[in-house]
Amino acid sequence: MKILIINGPNLNLLGTRDTSVYGTGTLEELNNWLTESFSEHELTFFQSNVEGELINRLQQAMTDGTEGIVGNFAAYTHTSVALRDALEPVKIPTVEVHISNIHAREEFREQSLTGAVVNGIITGFGKHSYVLGIQAVEHLSS
Ligand code: DQA
Repeated sequence: MKILIINGPNLNLLGTRDTSVYGTGTLEELNNWLTESFSEHELTFFQSNVEGELINRLQQAMTDGTEGIVGNFAAYTHTSVALRDALEPVKIPTVEVHISNIHAREEFREQSLTGAVVNGIITGFGKHSYVLGIQAVEHLSS
């Protein structure tokens, strides 16, 4: 399967950012680990700190043959109506993931605007949230 792993703002700082919450591994290490773990799939990685770039990449995925999306929209999860509206017309199996448990942190993280327009959410399993996200996409496509 051709699967897009899309990451939002500040996830480029994995490894140095709030390591007690997000761990010490970098985004590059995470991507390499996922590529090795899922060699049967064609994984494509995209990270941006810019809301519009994330929207453009999702729109691209609608026409470039992408068969599954695993997205960590980071802080935009909680704030972005634009990202929510971009996800709504996406008919590709899409799973939202979070490294931390967004329900066990500050109250403002409790709400996911994007969660209502994806197939499901995986939150709180560290980097394994991405593994579970890919497995969920596989499940949705089977
Ligand atoms: C996050 C949780 C968000 O609340 C936060 O803004 C992030 C990362 C996570 O993966 O746990 O940047 O999406």
